[in-house]
Amino acid sequence: MSRILKLFIATILVVTLLRGISVGIAQQQRTVTLSILINALEVPVWQEVLVKKFETEYPDIKINLIEAPNDTNLQEDLYTSAFLLGDSPYDLIMMDVVWVPKFAAAGWLLDLTDRINASDLSAFLEKDVEGSIYEGKLYRIPFQSDVGMLYYRQDMLAAAKLNPPETFSDLIDISQALQGNGAATWGYVWQGKQYEGLAAMFTEVLAGFGGFWVDPETLAVGLDKPEAIAAIKFLISTIDRGVSPPGVTTYAEEETRRLFQNGETLFLRNWPYVWSLANQNTSPIAGKIAIKPMVSAPEKQGGACLGGWGLGISKTSKYPEAAWRAIEYFTSTAAQRQFILKTGYVPSRRPLFTDPEIVAKYPHYPQLLEVVENAVLRPQIPQYAQASDILQRYLSGALTGRFDPVKAMKSAADETRRLLGTS
Ligand code: GLC
Repeated sequence: MSRILKLFIATILVVTLLRGISVGIAQQQRTVTLSILINALEVPVWQEVLVKKFETEYPDIKINLIEAPNDTNLQEDLYTSAFLLGDSPYDLIMMDVVWVPKFAAAGWLLDLTDRINASDLSAFLEKDVEGSIYEGKLYRIPFQSDVGMLYYRQDMLAAAKLNPPETFSDLIDISQALQGNGAATWGYVWQGKQYEGLAAMFTEVLAGFGGFWVDPETLAVGLDKPEAIAAIKFLISTIDRGVSPPGVTTYAEEETRRLFQNGETLFLRNWPYVWSLANQNTSPIAGKIAIKPMVSAPEKQGGACLGGWGLGISKTSKYPEAAWRAIEYFTSTAAQRQFILKTGYVPSRRPLFTDPEIVAKYPHYPQLLEVVENAVLRPQIPQYAQASDILQRYLSGALTGRFDPVKAMKSAADETRRLLGTS
């Protein structure tokens, strides 16, 4: 073989080798993994309904689902310590609506304002979008809305020839009547544990009495006003009158759902996720329940607290472009439709409330849209986490009889004013 030929072959080998190496590197570089923290209960459905299809459509992106604890506060703590330590291990941030101002003000999130145009954004529920904005910038795309509702046993009310309650007093009276005749063990269960769910539930009772917590515009605090006192006294009275079990002051969403679902409770305050679980084949109350907006004081409007979750991108993510593609996919109409059909969660896209496939499975969705659109947001202030802690602490003290309710609400109001610098 001539020297020239040898040189030629050697050159080809080297070039092929180098090309092989660079293709390998490029492939490695092209496949990115996005980490996201998801409520442990929801990980299987995320994997089955969303991630599998996404990864088939985008073979260059892998999704690493990390199981999160159930309580929203515990999840928030995980994020907060991760962000404070520096590089967040999460690329996509699944955010409760109440975290947005804090996370955005702290500079932990990418600004998404320029990534979506106004007409695409207008397909989402207005309040969900409102809850995703901080100081004029968008930090979250709504994935799922949420709203507090009153569940009731339609069969029990029908048997007693009673209409569903409209006011707080109706709720107590009907409960006592059906507990009195042995139809129900408990009248009403709600979330009374000292955590974020207590603040959300109280927001509804407060709105039902015509009161408010913090006005985000003026920073006025309404926790020591007569409406707020009436709200805490109503909750205490449910326990004092035996309508609610004493243990209610230790219950989060799941404890109350289980008590309702085992068949002995007439009314439940909870989020719409309960609907499909309570109606599944194995549930003793399947087909026996109905849902309605929360009751109120006479002449007042029932308050529903707006909850909900949406996706943002961590400022320290190495893959913001891939993360944005994942957000577009997970919040798309098609992905949401599949997720909702499976879970019974609340859409964040308005048209899905009247989508024929969804309404065929969940006939109450058009009515749910009205409730969501009239829902009350918890105060959108950067100090929300602390304000909520203050409220939770005093409410819990009053509910468990450790604090006098009037004094507790006064202290809660004063402490909140100090927090906001308005005292
Ligand atoms: C639900 C709501 C969320 C709320 C939480 C309270 O997950 O969507 O907004 O903070 O319940 O427990």
